[in-house]
Amino acid sequence: MVQNLVVDRIHDETERIRSIVLKAHDEAALPSFTAGAHIEFDLQEAGNRAYSLIDWGGSKNSPKEYTIAVQREEDGAGGSKAMHALVEGRVVSALGVKNDFELFASQNPVLLLAGGIGITPIISMATELVSRNAQFSFHYTGRSMSAMGFTDRLKAAFPEQLSLYCDDENPIDLDALMSAQSAETHVYICGPKGMIEAAKTAASVVGLPDENVHIELFTSPDTQSGDTPFEVEIHDTGDVYAIPVGKTIIEVLEEAGVDVMYDCQRGDCGICQTDIINGTPDHRDVVLSNADREAGKVMQICVSRARSARLVLDI
Ligand code: FES
Repeated sequence: MVQNLVVDRIHDETERIRSIVLKAHDEAALPSFTAGAHIEFDLQEAGNRAYSLIDWGGSKNSPKEYTIAVQREEDGAGGSKAMHALVEGRVVSALGVKNDFELFASQNPVLLLAGGIGITPIISMATELVSRNAQFSFHYTGRSMSAMGFTDRLKAAFPEQLSLYCDDENPIDLDALMSAQSAETHVYICGPKGMIEAAKTAASVVGLPDENVHIELFTSPDTQSGDTPFEVEIHDTGDVYAIPVGKTIIEVLEEAGVDVMYDCQRGDCGICQTDIINGTPDHRDVVLSNADREAGKVMQICVSRARSARLVLDI
């Protein structure tokens, strides 16, 4: 579905975080969504960008408006700057609503953990859990209190469940948090890669099953300093492709007309997982367990690269 949406209202939540409310041109009902869903926009030169839909308790069924929040990233690829350049009345092209971070029913208890702008899908989950009368705790951390959006509204909406942390005053202790959970707890985490990795490790150390930990990364992994080009050989055909710095395996293969399956392209859904026949991967995803990484038999080709000069993949 491609739909033009009109920017109805804009509100600055912090110096860098801006809430944007969008409506249909004729104020008609919009497609329904569920907690954890995102909406993808076509931002033309800035490419396609997805932002989580925020629900504070309005209708998610045929809503009259969507609310998102965008953190301006000075070093980003331009998506957040394009979103911050929007003014009320401007039209944006929406490509559709999707949920890769579903809040499953009848899980009890639930721990919600948000880092930075990763708060946006977690707000909708907390709202949903309140409406389900579910038992949950809600932990939100950021660099500093002034950089964290929505804190006053969150305190008012979730007074029993919310705990706030910030690196410069009371940093979150993920080990203590995870060790206080029962083995039945389901954990939903959204935030930067470092926080997700640390939380996953802490959960695994205390014995929470991997299937109880649900994650969404809120930024695409960027090119890292020290990245080098490498080659990918398709095992079945023997065809070899050069993967330069700044391009992913999926991007190169798609450009060459190779059919590959993928979804999130952030390394958090697992759809693009591929068997490795030969070579050493450089894992950049947040899906695989430490044991899977060490085994080196599979990789997520949307983000991961190679430590060896060539990877032979079963595609
Ligand atoms: S497409 Fe989602 S992990 Fe690669």
